[in-house]
Amino acid sequence: MSDTVVPVPPEVANGASIDAEKYEAMYKASIQDPVKFWDDHGRRLDWIRPYSTVRNVSYSYPDVQIEWFGDGTMNVAANCIDRHLENRAEQTAILFEPDDPEEEAQHISYAQLHAEVSKFANVLKTLGVRKGDRVVIYLPMIPAAAYAMLACARIGAIHSVVFAGFSPDALADRVNDCGAKLVITADHAPRGGRSTPLKTNADKALRRCGDDVKLLVVRRTGEQTTWVEGRDFHYETLAAIVEPECKPEEMNAEDPLFILYTSGSTGKPKGVVHTSAGYLVYASMTHEHVFDYRDGEVYWCTADVGWVTGHSYIVYGPLANGATTLMFEGVPTWPDASRFWQVVDKHKVSIFYTAPTALRALMGKGDQWITKCDLSTLRILGTVGEPINPEAWNWYHRVVGKGKCPIVDTWWQTETGGILISPLPGATPLKPGSATRPFFGVNPVVLDDQGNELEGEATGVLAIKDSWPGQMRTVWGDHARFVSTYFEMFKGYYFSGDGCRRDADGYYWITGRVDDVINVSGHRMGTAEVESALVAHEKVAEAAVVGYPHDIKGQGIYCYVTLMEGVEPTEALRKELSDWVRTEIGPIAKPDVIQWAPGLPKTRSGKIMRRILRKIAENDTGALGDTSTLADPAVVDDLVANSAHKQ
Ligand code: WT7
Repeated sequence: MSDTVVPVPPEVANGASIDAEKYEAMYKASIQDPVKFWDDHGRRLDWIRPYSTVRNVSYSYPDVQIEWFGDGTMNVAANCIDRHLENRAEQTAILFEPDDPEEEAQHISYAQLHAEVSKFANVLKTLGVRKGDRVVIYLPMIPAAAYAMLACARIGAIHSVVFAGFSPDALADRVNDCGAKLVITADHAPRGGRSTPLKTNADKALRRCGDDVKLLVVRRTGEQTTWVEGRDFHYETLAAIVEPECKPEEMNAEDPLFILYTSGSTGKPKGVVHTSAGYLVYASMTHEHVFDYRDGEVYWCTADVGWVTGHSYIVYGPLANGATTLMFEGVPTWPDASRFWQVVDKHKVSIFYTAPTALRALMGKGDQWITKCDLSTLRILGTVGEPINPEAWNWYHRVVGKGKCPIVDTWWQTETGGILISPLPGATPLKPGSATRPFFGVNPVVLDDQGNELEGEATGVLAIKDSWPGQMRTVWGDHARFVSTYFEMFKGYYFSGDGCRRDADGYYWITGRVDDVINVSGHRMGTAEVESALVAHEKVAEAAVVGYPHDIKGQGIYCYVTLMEGVEPTEALRKELSDWVRTEIGPIAKPDVIQWAPGLPKTRSGKIMRRILRKIAENDTGALGDTSTLADPAVVDDLVANSAHKQ
């Protein structure tokens, strides 16, 4: 990685909420006296009953406990909407840009947001949803997705948003795991000029769920769908008859706000639980400072609300700050590769936050798509989801930002609720490819394999020494899994699962996962999930899945498949298996490579040696390392000879 340093431009430092000096002072204070620091900053919210205890945290294994502002009460929706009505009623809260550029954009003011969310909340109540109940949201990127999330928050229900690209099976698993009694969907989801039949998917999913699960259907395209009387409800019909007012429920700071499923190295995706006040304090404070958000600016995060980025940086963080947040239903490359830049031009976007995979895809289409748009309103650029390679960084900086916009490379995770390591635009000189330095209150450490803290310049695994308010609190229904996943391997720390290097300036360079999690186009996936989908096919005996470097996606999905005795390995079967995984999990899990493996490299105790499979997938077969513990070393020769790189 390059070690170029890009200084803070004076015009950016000028008027920024945090400059270099302030960062150093505030950071130091936040680590030296976290109670005092967060006592002050917790007050950025409106409390119903103010807290008297700031934190109650123990990372001591196995009795891990994390509580922030524990005796305070508040309501998240009231903090994102009601408290802005006095000064911002007519300001745009959500700026909606539909998939089809011919369809008109919508400017939803804070007053309208208040009315929509109140109505939505009353519809939920009509359907019997109460405080603490779980509601699954399976919607396109439309304002109703934000209304539904905020309506849950308003009445104290716990939402779990499922990405609309997930399959019916993936949806059913999540509905069942969290015990939701209501699923909210839409007739169809338009995206990139095509349309996904969401209601039909939900119908399929609900066949695998309890009879008491209801389905609320929001109108998006107006297309006809099948209907189950007594189970399905039209949102618009109910919304027309409910009361317009809905008083926000008084919630405890530690009441769950949402569950979001994410992949781990083993087993099924786990339900990451985030609670109310600490999460909102952290999401809003990072949004304000990492993007140096200034009143009146249009802020655009291109993520989907189905991921944590959409939760924290499309909905909760920006709205808690009274910002104007742009919600985009489409994709970067439809109708053509200038779509992102047309939207920036049309809505005069100041802050733009996207994923490296999107940048790499657009970079390949040429600069002419950008230069024809007016991007002069852009002030700050951001990236998230995976390490950004220097070529993409430089292109983003030079062509999109015309050399004048700082790039905030933000490292964080579903589990962390908000950004943990990132430059602050007015404070931090940049190094392309580095997420740079920790946010206030975040104490990262680099550990060796034995869990010793390394000093100064170091390479190892990234862990966090103490809690921050946005941290996840548990795994839904499985606290033991929470403790063992994050706190068992390195006692006394939160273990991130990422490897990293800290350089002589104290900058962090994330090198990628050190576990069996892969990152495909910024989407996180457990190799175990793809493996279990493959072995669920009747012709597959065994499968092993690893990631390998992919130009656009960051990592691609490389599958080694052993077929059942007597099954012919044909091209047709390869396609069948690929489609199978796609329907089992969703399009994002579609394998890039399927290699037939007569055998897999195993130790004598039967453990698959993934290290070797990774090397073959990376085409790095000169350095396979020690293969002496293999039960049958000849297996490796066959895999090397027939790898995708040799075809
Ligand atoms: C994993 C978390 C946080 C929202 C999006 C992904 C990788 C994330 C960066 C970055 C290098 C990054 C890590 C992390 N990651 N941001 N700026 N530089 N790697 O959330 O699905 O929970 O995935 O994404 O490997 O552990 P997620």
